[in-house]
Amino acid sequence: NKISIIGVPMDLGQSRRGVDMGPSAMRYAGAIEKLEELDYQIHDLGDIPINRPDKPTTDNSSNLKNLAQVVEANQKLAEMVDKEIEKRHFPLIFGGDHSIAIGSLAGISKHYENLGVIWYDAHGDLNSGETSPSGNIHGMPLAVSLGIGHEKLTNILGFAPKIKPENIVIIGARSLDPGERELIRDRGIKVYTMHELDRMGMPKVMEETISYLKERTDGVHLSLDLDGLDPSEAPGVGTPVIGGITYRESHLAMEMLEESKLLTSAEFVEVNPILDEKNKTATVAVGLMGSLFGEKLK
Ligand code: ARG
Ligand code: MN
Ligand code: MN
Ligand code: MN
Repeated sequence: NKISIIGVPMDLGQSRRGVDMGPSAMRYAGAIEKLEELDYQIHDLGDIPINRPDKPTTDNSSNLKNLAQVVEANQKLAEMVDKEIEKRHFPLIFGGDHSIAIGSLAGISKHYENLGVIWYDAHGDLNSGETSPSGNIHGMPLAVSLGIGHEKLTNILGFAPKIKPENIVIIGARSLDPGERELIRDRGIKVYTMHELDRMGMPKVMEETISYLKERTDGVHLSLDLDGLDPSEAPGVGTPVIGGITYRESHLAMEMLEESKLLTSAEFVEVNPILDEKNKTATVAVGLMGSLFGEKLK
């Protein structure tokens, strides 16, 4: 019952400042206290130092913004996550923008043959330098983990790919770029878009997700981008998309995951307190962590 918390104050994977304060915002909203109340032993490893360039840089040959800094931070994160899993601690990572999933998944996947990933997000984050409309690396981490993209990103910890397409479930998608749609089709990635969520409801979506992953994986990582939720309930995000998952549905999803005992690691990303209303989004994130770690059973 040990959780290791790692903060990654990263905002270089996208172009709006402030998401580097996400770890502080979630700590301020009471993340540590909440988990301690649930009888977990918390090891808070603090925040990874991020090397900030004076000016945002773009790698001209690859259309990737701040490539060197994103690689460096993810390398550090991957090494830390790896160590915590060796100690049998549950890694819980606080972002930062979603580019940090590259390091999380690198460190975690070292320990599993068939790591499952639940990508709770309005976006697919399946772009590469070639397909990205923005050059922002936070739109690429899932593709990178599949081994698609710049070698400096895909090869962190010296192996690729980190995950297999059939072990991924995307939940909440409603903004997919053309290249991402193609990848989803070609690789057979399982996606519950808002259309399926509306038709089936969250209970059925989670039941299917859990039994699908139970059958084929030996560990499951939850990568929760707060923009998966509707911006009316989670406004403090850099790339909001209307028509998202509700607060209640999200709590139910977390509770069903907790009951399944499937999860082996998790991350909460894209909380941007500058764009928020009175730290509402970090507070939602901490509430979801409560459900994910068994609050309803208390
Ligand atoms: N698809 C867009 C892009 O590649 C938006 C990505 C948003 N990603 C996120 N993690 N919020 O730039
Ligand atoms: Mn310990
Ligand atoms: Mn997103
Ligand atoms: Mn995302």
